[in-house]
Amino acid sequence: QQLQMNLEQIEKGGYDHFMLKEIYEQPSVIKDTYRGRLHANKGMIQMAGVEDNIDKFTNANRILIVACGTSWHAGLVAEYIFEEFSRIPVEVEYASEFRYRNPIIYPDDVVIAISQSGETADTLAAIKLAKEKGAFVFGVCNVVGSSISRETHAGAYTHAGPEIGVASTKAFTTQITVLTMMALRLAKAKGTMNTSDYQRYLLELELIPEKVEEALQTNEVAKMIASIYKSAPNCLYLGRGYNFPVALEGALKLKEISYIHAEGYPAAEMKHGPIALIDEHMPIVVIAPKQNHYDKVVSNIQEIKARSGKIIAVVTKGDTQVRALADHVIEIPDTAEALTPLLTTIPLQLLSYHIAVMRECNVDQPRNLAKSVTVE
Ligand code: G6P
Repeated sequence: QQLQMNLEQIEKGGYDHFMLKEIYEQPSVIKDTYRGRLHANKGMIQMAGVEDNIDKFTNANRILIVACGTSWHAGLVAEYIFEEFSRIPVEVEYASEFRYRNPIIYPDDVVIAISQSGETADTLAAIKLAKEKGAFVFGVCNVVGSSISRETHAGAYTHAGPEIGVASTKAFTTQITVLTMMALRLAKAKGTMNTSDYQRYLLELELIPEKVEEALQTNEVAKMIASIYKSAPNCLYLGRGYNFPVALEGALKLKEISYIHAEGYPAAEMKHGPIALIDEHMPIVVIAPKQNHYDKVVSNIQEIKARSGKIIAVVTKGDTQVRALADHVIEIPDTAEALTPLLTTIPLQLLSYHIAVMRECNVDQPRNLAKSVTVE
């Protein structure tokens, strides 16, 4: 028993929980994920699985992304990135819905399945269906040799290392890293991005690990904010554009590990429902980096303030406009617009972690949840 406990302590590498360790591993695992693939100085991205099938990608009329949970959120971020960079229409589907609704799949569709474990039953079934209909299926998995990595025609691994915490953290950011590199590679192949933007994105992506490191310095402020809102019964997360899926993921993290009811919404949809919930007891996390329709998000914040909601804003370092309105601000470094999810996600992971710890929840093994869902 004692030995078992000591072993676990060692595995946690000095952190109280696997989740926190995994949050802190993100700078290095993002680097591991792009190492040997991203060559910013040569203006190149090399991913064998993409390169070997480049015609399939460039000739695709459509990309269908299938996934579950956090991986589905990474798919949503990828939808924005693929469409913007490579001008290919993208649809993102819950694998569980896709597999049962007789979906329209054309042989020239590319299906991308995203899965940390590579064992999720619904995602696996969606892949089998897409293959039957003749589509080319590409996997983005973390676990080497997993069922999904074997079942797909080609793929690219994330190099996040083992993720033990049930709530996914480093898998999410490494999935976005892989998908961003794929979108950039396709942009180059299709000529849909001008050379200077392309080059700027490669350089910015290379800088992401050190910027994530900087974003991790929000830990203390996240902890302080957590202590104020740890007893809130509800929490709303708002974001626009690339950061709308981050709002969904932030809300998912909070509900998974702290059991606080949380919802993510596109900021502008607030007025179509959630605004009715806002009063002085409601904390609202607003993701408001300097890009992403900043002015629109500022007016959403004003609407919340007018209803006495409590605003926790994630902003770009040096921001003054949102700071003047928000109850709390969390600053992250500046980066290119499409890469902001890799940074805005970090303080949201920390916030939910600290709230869960303060509520004495089982952070690494939340009730009723499994790390991989291998049955329906
Ligand atoms: C479970 C896990 C989530 C994960 C989801 C999809 O619900 O608790 O963290 O996002 O499955 O898992 P996958 O391994 O396919 O990414």
